[in-house]
Amino acid sequence: MISKALSYIKKIRTTGAVYESSRFVSRNITHEINFQRPQIVIELGAGSGNITERILSKLHPDSKFYCFEIEPQFYAKLENIQDDRFHLIKESAADVTKYFDPGSVDIIISGLPLSLFDNSDRSQLLHDCYGLLKKGGVYRQFLYSLQKNYFVPIFDRMETSLEMNLPPAVLYSCYKLN
Ligand SMILES: C[S@@+](CC[C@H](N)C(=O)[O-])C[C@H]1O[C@@H](n2cnc3c(N)ncnc32)[C@H](O)[C@@H]1O
Repeated sequence: MISKALSYIKKIRTTGAVYESSRFVSRNITHEINFQRPQIVIELGAGSGNITERILSKLHPDSKFYCFEIEPQFYAKLENIQDDRFHLIKESAADVTKYFDPGSVDIIISGLPLSLFDNSDRSQLLHDCYGLLKKGGVYRQFLYSLQKNYFVPIFDRMETSLEMNLPPAVLYSCYKLN
């Protein structure tokens, strides 16, 4: 636990966190992942892999799961995941559109520290994610503050919930309806 906390704290400018998110966050942020049907799922900012593991446990056998992480100390651990559905991409989430066709993705789950991003980078990334989602797709993100203005101008519908976490986390569920 202490070594995990240290790995977050040492890289706080990239993680924006002192520890991984809670089991309440990982359970609720993966709500739409469905064992009943194949889906294309992306995770942005996997960190120590707590949400990654939860996603894998819920995925249909024919689903595809792509995970972006830029910190070597985190992706070294993610490299050990042996699962044919799992694809680790050791590049910035900013490059996400290089890998997928527009309108091809069911679910994007993000732990990225969006509040540390430049306004224009954050807005570009969220527009890119919107473009990648299928109609009916969802972008889910947790943050440690209320930032509805990041999402409302881009997505067709947004809901928020407060999740038990230290510090408390706001979970944003942002839908592409058209
Ligand atoms: C708050 S941590 C979230 C970790 C984990 N998903 C959790 O639930 O605790 C943010 C993660 O995003 C990663 N990250 C930050 N900027 C990134 C970027 N541009 N592309 C990919 N990953 C990034 C950091 O290295 C860190 O692992």
